[in-house]
Amino acid sequence: MSGNSPRVQRVIDDIESRIACRTAPPGSRLPSVRAQAKALAVSASTVVEAYARLVAQGRLVSRPGAGFYVAATAVAPLKLAPQGPPRAPDLDPLWLSRQALEADPALLKPGCGWLPPDWLYQIGVRRALRGLARGNGAELADYAPPQGSAALRQVLVRRLAHSGVEAAAEQLLLTDSGTHALDLIARVFLSPGDVVLVDDPCYFNFHTLLSAHRVTLIGVPFTPQGPDLPAFEAALQAHQPKLYLTNSGLHNPTGARWSPAVAHRVLLLAEQAGLVIVEDDIFHDFELSPAPRLAAYDGLQRVIQTGSFSKTLSASVRCGYIAARPEWLQQLLEVHIATGFGGNRLAAALVLAAITDGGYARHMEQVRQRLAQRREQCLVRLAALGITPWLRPDAGMFLWCRLPHGRDAAAVARRSLEQGVVLAPGNAFSPALRAAEFMRFNVSQCDDERVFAVLRNALRAP
Ligand SMILES: Cc1ncc(COP(=O)(O)O)c(C=O)c1O
Repeated sequence: MSGNSPRVQRVIDDIESRIACRTAPPGSRLPSVRAQAKALAVSASTVVEAYARLVAQGRLVSRPGAGFYVAATAVAPLKLAPQGPPRAPDLDPLWLSRQALEADPALLKPGCGWLPPDWLYQIGVRRALRGLARGNGAELADYAPPQGSAALRQVLVRRLAHSGVEAAAEQLLLTDSGTHALDLIARVFLSPGDVVLVDDPCYFNFHTLLSAHRVTLIGVPFTPQGPDLPAFEAALQAHQPKLYLTNSGLHNPTGARWSPAVAHRVLLLAEQAGLVIVEDDIFHDFELSPAPRLAAYDGLQRVIQTGSFSKTLSASVRCGYIAARPEWLQQLLEVHIATGFGGNRLAAALVLAAITDGGYARHMEQVRQRLAQRREQCLVRLAALGITPWLRPDAGMFLWCRLPHGRDAAAVARRSLEQGVVLAPGNAFSPALRAAEFMRFNVSQCDDERVFAVLRNALRAP
């Protein structure tokens, strides 16, 4: 056998990757030579060679008669489990999140998922900061009660009622962000190897977050009314998922809102399959009249709702929430105490002061109007480049668009980045890489004419 056999290397890479992301934890037994050969469609001698090399490197231990085991010393820092088909580095959801977060402020960012800082409620945040600096020392220095500020939870109860979700303050847990809320839920409800349904396309950090929990993601094609029902039903039967993670207010990246009929059907199917649904409602305040919420229809039985204030108030003030049935909330609370001890008391006090200061509703009204104007302008500018919307959303910041003539969005994004424009190519949102011709645009970040000039050039390039 050649020392550089690519097949042997493939087996080694496969095992190394499973060790790194802990699907093959230290001390675990590897499949027998024959089973491994069958699984990877290589010969038994290839596997024997790969195992021998890994033993020589101290990565595996051979126990005669018992098989091959991952060595206890093989523990490397945890890596995110790979998800779905292999991706080019610039379609990797983690890379994209990092790129958007690290981007030089001078870059133009029509691909990022948030409003420019001067669109957020800075005036309210400043006022709240001044008030807090003068106020009660406990807010500034003490641990928070485990479920978080009772006063903010009361305000959230009224906010949830606006979209028809009935919850008592005891059914709410404050978290450090929307992402943190989802992470807690994943800790409580998922084990490595479980299957989670997401929409295809979906918010790209869902991929990354779930990879950290070493679960398998299955994408269900998304339609302008919600998930495609036959595909949803087929996925339930084929994969027995534990959880479905979606946005049922405004959907990221498409801007779609669910129809009542789809919501009803999904809840029935979920009930039959014993599926838990997580409804991430982070764009709540962008809608004037709320679309159906799964949590409202289901009475927070098998639906858990999450949200935060990052998109409207401040992404710097980290504060989110979970609404769930009481016994689930208790489990989430225990894990929250175990892994976070006290929540962010100062952030909760700041959010409470800012969203109840009388100006926040007016601020959101202005944001909605500005977005509506920008959406129309952006649609016209995109149409001039032959870029067409998949759907014309009636709220929110996103346009999910098809590029002209089957152009590859990843290549267009790569060329645009060289010219200082950060875009969001469709396949970063698609678990099955079904969205190569799509791009998500954030209309609030598309004011600068250079965005469209750079796009025009990138689309023209061969
Ligand atoms: C759909 C969706 N959920 C959650 C988040 C993350 O929110 P947070 O900043 O509260 O962690 C985002 C941010 O872009 C998002 O688009």
